[in-house]
Amino acid sequence: MALKATVAIRPDQKIGTISPHLYGHFTEHLGHCIYDGIWVGEGSEIPNDGGIRTDTVAALKAVKAPNVRWPGGCFADDYHWEDGVGPREERPRRVNIWWDDEESNQFGTDEFMRFCRMVDTAPYICMNVGSGTVAEQKLWVEYCNWIGDTQLSKLREANGSAEPHAVSWWAVGNENWGCGGRFTPEHYAMEYRRFACYLRGRSKTPLNLVAAGHTTPDWNRRFLTSMGCWDMIDHLSIHRYYHRGHQTDFDEDDYYGLYAEATAVDDDIRATVGALDDIVRGSKFIGIALDEWGVWHREAGWGLEQVNTHRDALVAASVLDILNHWCARVTMANLAQTINVLQCLIHTSGESFWKTPTYHLFDLYQAHMGKTAVVALVDGPSIDTTRGDGREMELALLGASASIGDDATAVALALTNRSLIEPMKVKLDWGGLPRAKSVTARCLTSDHPAAHNTAEQPDYVGLQEIKLTPAKFEKGIELPPMSVTMVELTY
Ligand code: AHR
Repeated sequence: MALKATVAIRPDQKIGTISPHLYGHFTEHLGHCIYDGIWVGEGSEIPNDGGIRTDTVAALKAVKAPNVRWPGGCFADDYHWEDGVGPREERPRRVNIWWDDEESNQFGTDEFMRFCRMVDTAPYICMNVGSGTVAEQKLWVEYCNWIGDTQLSKLREANGSAEPHAVSWWAVGNENWGCGGRFTPEHYAMEYRRFACYLRGRSKTPLNLVAAGHTTPDWNRRFLTSMGCWDMIDHLSIHRYYHRGHQTDFDEDDYYGLYAEATAVDDDIRATVGALDDIVRGSKFIGIALDEWGVWHREAGWGLEQVNTHRDALVAASVLDILNHWCARVTMANLAQTINVLQCLIHTSGESFWKTPTYHLFDLYQAHMGKTAVVALVDGPSIDTTRGDGREMELALLGASASIGDDATAVALALTNRSLIEPMKVKLDWGGLPRAKSVTARCLTSDHPAAHNTAEQPDYVGLQEIKLTPAKFEKGIELPPMSVTMVELTY
């Protein structure tokens, strides 16, 4: 028996623009994310362009990855950028204290920029506040962005880039309440002011400066209160990881429970909005950057590698819907971490390369990029579940988000049937929209929530086209269990 639900789309109730930056990514010098995942070196037998894997580049380009954050994470607050520029054979080898490794510095600023240009994505650099100096970080900005005759702009030119890297996004530290220096919010506010004071003047590109926030109840409020000069902050960062059960071994409670855990993202954003509204009070718009998020399974061992299943992708769809819902306040989000680490999009092993179910989810959600999010009201069945913090929840079995193109000639509608076993018949109320001229639909579905792709079976979980006509779709659609469907309409 199919479940029944209704989605009412309200094209006149606009929420805001879905910035492509909400579907961004994060790479850290951790395990096999950078080395093997992106950088294989010029002499490698793995197909590469100047040392950068071409399969990784092509895959990220295909999902229009809007930005990539680098070099960490915790690694960022112990990274000294000058170690990673200039002739590669002369670069020093250092200890990577956070990830039990050694850092060869073969992949540094200029390699990262080349990678970003190949993918056609915006670079987002996280600076070192924990163990770095203002003098060092301000010169990093100058090295990347200055156009002129200074020693550093000349050095960049000598290193192969006459044109500036034009990096707009800069984070002033990462998790500075933890691995980024264990500051109190008040102390971090003082440091933030000192660092931020010397950055903008060194850049011909306008800077988006991101401050490190937190999800504990009081960090953001104490930090913002001490900061005072809010003109120096453009975005406040928060991170959210979640898990439930085991990566491939979980029961029904864990399956639904993982969706419940992920709703913490909604709470985090609401709490951060509350802090900004109470303290900054609209005197400056400060966006929220959820610049690390995703599932972090307990099994993630050295290198934080884990199996990424169909369940993880379904739950990520609920997070992307939350981000769409908050698109007027969230300005950037970065899934952790692109290749081989945590909830990655891509796995590599030597020459082998395969995409995770989450990759296909990001492929689907491209349809929302740059459109205006509109209200989509869901009325349908739900299930009782609990979060790890003991909170009881009624989890809707249908997830949805809708967006509309600027000129109202295109609509994207994402529908997730979270039910483990039952298909769902969804009726649509179009809120006055006329019948579309054409409709296309693609669906991420699988036979088991723990299904995943491997080097041997790289396409076990993937996308399927659904044949629809505008007249047929107008009445509704039947969604398979455990599926995400993206419907795109043109008018
Ligand atoms: O993504 C792994 C780590 O998680 C990052 O380095 C850190 O910022 C976070 O705690």
